[in-house]
This record gives sequence, C-alpha cells and structure tokens, in this order.
Amino acid sequence: MSNQLEKVKELIELRNQARIGGGEKAIEKQHERGKYTARERIAQLLDEGSFEELDMFVRHRCYNFGQEKKSFLGDGVVTGYGTIDGRLVYVFAQDFTVFGGSLSETMALKICKIMDMAMKMGAPVIGLNDSGGARIQEGINALAGYAEIFQRNILASGVIPQISAILGPCAGGAVYSPALTDFTIMAKGISYMFLTGPKVVKTVTGEDVTQDALGGAEVHSSKSGVAHFAAEDGEHAIKIIRKLFGYIPQNNLEEPPMVECTDPIDRLEDSLNEIIPDSPNKPYDMYEVIGAIVDNGEFLEVQRDYAKNIIVGFARFNGQSVGIVANQPKYLAGVLDCNASRKGARFVRFCDAFNIPLVTLVDVPGFLPGTGQEYNAVILHGAKLLYAYGEATVPKVTVTLRKSYGGSHIVMSCKQLRGDMNYAWPTAEIAVMGGAGAVEVLYAKEAKASDDPKKVLAEKEAEYNKLFCNPYNAARYGYIDDVIEPRNTRFRIIRALQQLATKKVMNPAKKHGNIPL
Ligand code: HXC
Repeated sequence: MSNQLEKVKELIELRNQARIGGGEKAIEKQHERGKYTARERIAQLLDEGSFEELDMFVRHRCYNFGQEKKSFLGDGVVTGYGTIDGRLVYVFAQDFTVFGGSLSETMALKICKIMDMAMKMGAPVIGLNDSGGARIQEGINALAGYAEIFQRNILASGVIPQISAILGPCAGGAVYSPALTDFTIMAKGISYMFLTGPKVVKTVTGEDVTQDALGGAEVHSSKSGVAHFAAEDGEHAIKIIRKLFGYIPQNNLEEPPMVECTDPIDRLEDSLNEIIPDSPNKPYDMYEVIGAIVDNGEFLEVQRDYAKNIIVGFARFNGQSVGIVANQPKYLAGVLDCNASRKGARFVRFCDAFNIPLVTLVDVPGFLPGTGQEYNAVILHGAKLLYAYGEATVPKVTVTLRKSYGGSHIVMSCKQLRGDMNYAWPTAEIAVMGGAGAVEVLYAKEAKASDDPKKVLAEKEAEYNKLFCNPYNAARYGYIDDVIEPRNTRFRIIRALQQLATKKVMNPAKKHGNIPL
C-alpha cells in the first residue's frame, strides 16, 4: 500500500471512530433511554445526504481529573450545515454518549463556529440539546463556553431564526441558550429543563418533586410557557422543526418562502355567516374560524397548551406565510390576562422581526380584573402586547368578529397602532365597555330613584347597545376600514395582504426601545 493510500485509510478509520462518539455501548445505552444519537437526529432533521460535518477531529484540552487519558473525537457535539427542503441551515447536536453531552471549552468553540457562520451566511441555527450541563472537570472554562454561546444567541436574535430542541436533560444555566432562541421544542418523556434539579429543590425548599413534574415537556408547554411545542417523542420534535422551518425566512432581510396555493382564494365559507351565537355570552370556537379561512385549513399552532385564551401560530394565505393572533372566546371568554399578553407579544415580535405579516382575529371582552392579575403585573404584561403591535412594521390585517372593548380593543392591533387594514364583521361590538357595565356607571342613581330600577337599566342598556355595540360607529370615524361579510373573510384578507406586499414603514432610529419587561 502506498503512503498516500495508508493515510487515506487512516482518515477513514478516524472518521469511523468519530462517528461512533462515546462507543457502541454508550450508543446502546442511549437507545435504551428511548433517545436517538446526535447523528441519527441530524439525519432525521436534514435533507438526505445534505449534511456537511465540521470539526470532527476536535478533542478537549483538559488535564484535570485524568481527563487527558479520556477523550473522544468531536468532543461530544456534532456540528455542521445542511439543508431542509433545499434551504441552508446550520445545526449542532449534542452527543450524550460522550461525557453525557456535557459542555466543554472545545464543544463551545465548535458551536460558536457554526453560529458565526450562520450569521455570516444569513441562515438559521438549529440546536439539538441533550446534555448534562457544564463539563464539571473543565470548571470555569465550561462556564466561559456557555457565555460565549449566550452572547451569540443575543446578537443573532432578530437577525437569523434560532430554534432549540431539548431532547434530553438541559439543566442549570444551560437552559438560558434555548430561552434566548426563538422557539423551544421539548419531547415528552425524554426532555427536561430546570435551573436546579429535584435534589437541590428538596434541600433548599423541602419540596419533593420529580424531574418531569419540575421541568418536563408538559410542564413547560402548559404551565410556564418556556416550551413552544411539546412533541410526543424525539422524532416528532424533529418533524415539528421541519414544519416550522417552512413558515420562516432565512434571516431578517428575506421573506418567508412562498408555496403554491391550491386552495381557491375566493372560497366563500357560508358557515362563517352563522358562527356567532345570538347570545353575547355564548362562546364559539375560534379554531373553526381559522380553519375556515387559511389555505387548506392548515395551521401550525405555537404554545397550544399555554394561555389558551389567545391563539397564536402560522398559516398561509394564497401561499404566503402569516402569523395569526386570535382571541379564543371558548376559553375564559377570550379575555386578555398576564400570560395571554406575554404569549401574544412574543409571537408578534418574532413575526415582525422576520417579515411575517400579522393577521389578528379579535373577539375580546377586556382584560381580566382582580388582585391575581394586578399583583402579577398585568399592566406591564398587557403593555408588552401593546408595545409589540405598536412597534411592528410588517403588514397588519385585523378582523373584529365580535367583542372589542376598552383597552383590549386598542391592544389587539387597532387602527391607531398602525393597523393597515382593519375590518369588522357586522356582529362586531367596538366600544369603551359592555352595555351592562356602562349603564351601571351612568344611570345607577337614576335607576335607584325610580320605581323599577331594573327596567330603567334595561332600557338604557338597549339604548347603549344600539348606539355603540356595533361596527358602524367605529367605521363612521374610519377606525374600521370596512364592514365585511363573514363568509368572504378569506378573500378580503388575501386582497389586503396583496395590497400590503410593498409596505415600507420605518420606526425612528434608536439604540433599542425599552419594552416593559
Ligand atoms: C461531566 C458528565 C456530566 C457533566 C454527565 N456526565 N454529566 N460528565 N460533566 N456535567 C457523564 C457521567 O459522568 C457519565 O459518564 C455520563 O456522562 C452519562 O451520565 P449518567 O449519569 O450515567 O447518565 P444518566 O443516569 O442518564 O444521568 C444524566 C444526568 C446526570 C441527569 C444528566 O449525569 C447528571 O445529573 N449530571 C450532572 C448534571 C449537573 O449537575 N451538571 C452541572 C450543572 S451546572 P460515564 O463515564 O460514567 O459514562 C451547570 C452550570 C452551567 O451546568 C452554567 C451555564 C451558565
């Protein structure tokens, strides 16, 4: 064998060695845990044959605790680039078979390298996390590595989309990288995120709690809102990422991908002409409205199980990606509260940062009153949503279906918050407050002085409703651009979006605003 052939053989052997990470036994153990390996995950994520791996020969450079005698090619993370539906993406996948995927100085350097490349090339970064946290043997160098990653997450925020899947443990300060990214996907049964694990919780607070109950996929997708998606398993998590990817652009200077639309743009949905119940206190299901108006009824909901009184997610109109924000009358009557406001605001800001038009469907009775909300700073949280809509410069189309009262009317993308096209159904009620509350304030004394207080209040309420609880009063002032037939909503939204395709609005130059955090 020639010298050259021998060297090629050595390269192939080294590559094969790198590809098995921590070794066959460790891979077996990973599978027994119900988890895929880093390379298997990348293969599921990217288009077949598109992955180009980088830094396969990196090893750690730690000499503490006998680490010099134990090192693996690649050092616990697989990094590189490839494509999803033909579009460039950078990816890192932590390899739990090597030191439990723990983060070393060199692992951080590998991750930072692809993050820097993604910024240069203007392409998204997807992180597949499965790690025991900072590599304990490396001490402060591991912490420095985390900080380098966090700094890049921050600078990349709003420039390139960043997506994190949690496919194993993610504990301690390590949780802050996913938290800084745009979307976090967890998988039921295998992933958990927390600042301090059950043992520390027990020591500090005396509370007994399992890992799952403390920071599993269900907890973070329904209670804390940390996770945007709770997948059934690891494979499903990867499928969600691929789907999500289809709605978002490569970077903040590009548009999201257009797809061919097979759904007629002028499809009339007669059911919408009868969806609003006669009684204002009866709910209907906003999902039915969304399903009826978007292309092929397809809707990718974000944070489905968190703050269900507001619905956010991606859909398409005539093949164009949009972000939908909608009150859900079926849950807490669609009221805005702390969590719904935070959820809506974050989604609106993502869409605005990445040139995704916003379609807002309004049926909101107001903000939830009470000490529970006030003590939790509903003022600040509500202001977040207000701020997010007010600063957004993407096309904004609003349709008011039924209630739109008081502060919540303003917050939900009203005309004066630079709503571009504000439509209302004939069933819309756009007013300072509901009739019953209004007459209590205005006519309580008069009612009390009369023989029949109930009758007086009922008469005044009817008068108020006639005058204010309709769309025409707002339309009279141009606050509503048109009152539309519900069954024609899809067509009117598509027309509006076509018109707004060339919209250009700039906010005043500034370092950054001071959103009420
Ligand atoms: C070095 C680690 C490691 C770590 C796991 N391993 N975590 N090595 N540093 N942080 C190694 C284990 O020694 C073991 O090596 C292998 O990975 C697999 O781990 P197991 O414990 O056998 O696996 P499992 O039973 O599934 O438990 C997984 C685990 C547990 C829950 C993640 O390993 C664990 O609790 N690890 C420590 C978690 C932690 O406290 N990390 C530091 C947090 S502080 P062998 O050789 O036996 O296969 C932190 C600060 C970050 O991260 C701050 C950022 C700002």
